[in-house]
Amino acid sequence: MFDKKLVSDIDVNGKKALVRVDFNVPIKDGHVEDDTRIRAALPTIKYLLDHGAAVILCSHLGRPKEGPDPKYSMRPTADHLSKLLGIPVGFSTEAVGPVAEAAAQSLKPGEVLVLENTRFYKGETKNDPEMAKQLASLADIYVNDAFGSAHRAHASTEGMAHYLPAVAGFLMEEEIKYLGQAIADPKRPFVAILGGAKISDKIGVIRNLLKLADLVLIGGGMANTFFKAQGYPTGDSLVDEEALDTARELLREGSVRLRLPVDVVIADRFENDAASKVMETGPVPDGWRILDIGPEAVSAYAKAIHGAGTVVWNGPMGVFELPNFAKGTFGVAKAVAESNAISIVGGGDSVAALNQSGLSAKITHISTGGGASLEMLEGLTLPGVAALLDK
Ligand code: 3PG
Repeated sequence: MFDKKLVSDIDVNGKKALVRVDFNVPIKDGHVEDDTRIRAALPTIKYLLDHGAAVILCSHLGRPKEGPDPKYSMRPTADHLSKLLGIPVGFSTEAVGPVAEAAAQSLKPGEVLVLENTRFYKGETKNDPEMAKQLASLADIYVNDAFGSAHRAHASTEGMAHYLPAVAGFLMEEEIKYLGQAIADPKRPFVAILGGAKISDKIGVIRNLLKLADLVLIGGGMANTFFKAQGYPTGDSLVDEEALDTARELLREGSVRLRLPVDVVIADRFENDAASKVMETGPVPDGWRILDIGPEAVSAYAKAIHGAGTVVWNGPMGVFELPNFAKGTFGVAKAVAESNAISIVGGGDSVAALNQSGLSAKITHISTGGGASLEMLEGLTLPGVAALLDK
């Protein structure tokens, strides 16, 4: 299934390993707010340390536009990693250049160094071969464990793989195994649940899943666009006007497998204390907007989820950050957690909803990738994976 060489397939003893991790994590006041992605990289980091390698980590953080910006420094992630590992972790104020070279050179087996944000350099997102070569010059081997960034063909995620023996880390393997299995050979029935605000972000995913899944359950703002495409007035609901034609097409193509909520919760304002009521799906009165799927829709979706062999969920069912409109999302989270299906959840909001409801432990696999997991569900090849050595 996973046909790329793993870090455990090569000799790492005495080697310097440059590991691309996805430490693109929320930082507040210089501290890591959610360390899920850092913890997810620990097995690979520990394996390398235990097997005699010196570990150099690199990642991007945020989307800095104009070069170095302290707001996007990797330093807090280095400090946090040091606490998790219980050993000192060095930090280089450069990702490439003389400071990084000196720090990498003096690094000994069993030691860890974190490089500054790779996106402080223009060459990163341009996948500039010079930047890739400079990064590669710091180490003997390249390990890509940054599943969350594997859909980006950047110098540190793809380019560097051409200049060093390039293998996958354990997180990369796990992510591709679960998501790859779900799309290549799912245990059936295969039920996909897609939510979130916009259809346009997920057209490719919906299209691919309509081919692969037995049922595609739609919720969140994207359902509104389908309602409008069916000809219902949608009041003040968020509608992706530019995607209406595509929504009509998807309804035609996928009508047997595509499910829309049978009822919805409407509100007279976008506020938690707005007046609200449940209505059967149909014309939304003027001045009202859809903010969640309704109780009947939750029951229908839960029934489908309970009978599934594989469930993939990405995107909330409503405006779940407003507690009065969170029942749909939490209802689906509960159904996914209670189901005996192989369950795979991706995307920041769905994962946050699971965490908030304390249900994460019941999920087979929680993906650390948002965009990357969607691209896999869309059936696309991830450049960061393609560039690695085959088994
Ligand atoms: C993510 O958070 O999805 C990844 O780290 C990729 O970040 P990007 O969308 O800024 O490339």
